[in-house]
Amino acid sequence: MHPTLVAPSILACDFGRLHDEILRAETAGADWLHLDVMDGHFVDNISFGPAFIDATAAVAKVPIDTHLMISRPDHYLPRFISNSHNITVHVEAECDVRATLSAIRQAGRTCGLSLRPGTPFSAVTPFLADIDLLLVMTVEPGFGGQAFQSEMLDKIREAAHLRTQNEWQYRIQVDGGINAATAAQCVQAGSDTLVAGTSVFRAPDIAAAIRAIREARI
Ligand code: DX5
Ligand code: ZN
Repeated sequence: MHPTLVAPSILACDFGRLHDEILRAETAGADWLHLDVMDGHFVDNISFGPAFIDATAAVAKVPIDTHLMISRPDHYLPRFISNSHNITVHVEAECDVRATLSAIRQAGRTCGLSLRPGTPFSAVTPFLADIDLLLVMTVEPGFGGQAFQSEMLDKIREAAHLRTQNEWQYRIQVDGGINAATAAQCVQAGSDTLVAGTSVFRAPDIAAAIRAIREARI
């Protein structure tokens, strides 16, 4: 139902050449840019904050997809809203998740909901009617370069099944260990939005890498 999109994860690029890296990804065919915000509390890593998103948005021509791996997305939301097209929060966050998703939509942005690998799918089902994107984490959030967890394919299938059954519209995004081979498995399971860091920015030919992920089929 949705065209397949590839969202390179900026976490894997050369931060010292941010401007050039954004242009490189866009020229190579990036559909969105995925930005991973980590607070050192929700995950065991600290990445970047609102100023970095603003610097990216000042250059980027494609939509900014902000993934908030932070404990209090409700509190920090106003600092990310203006320069993000989509904002994804975690169902495990320490806040009123429904109210936070609603605030994102009220600000005119699309809202995403994510779950960690260890969180059962049932945690997100109460929200599925009211989201624009479901992000199924295929690694433990916090670091790039980890191996894809194929057990998460069942969550993608469940999300796709419920979407069809209820005529919902959300995108099904995957994030973590995505390359052409794992993308093919995710697309077959029902995913339409593919985040990839290492396999895109560290590829010898970034355009070929993005194309291979977008066109990946089993
Ligand atoms: C992990 C982040 C991912 C990460 C993906 O916590 O949410 O977006 O950048 O990196 P790769 O594609 O290298 O697994
Ligand atoms: Zn991410």
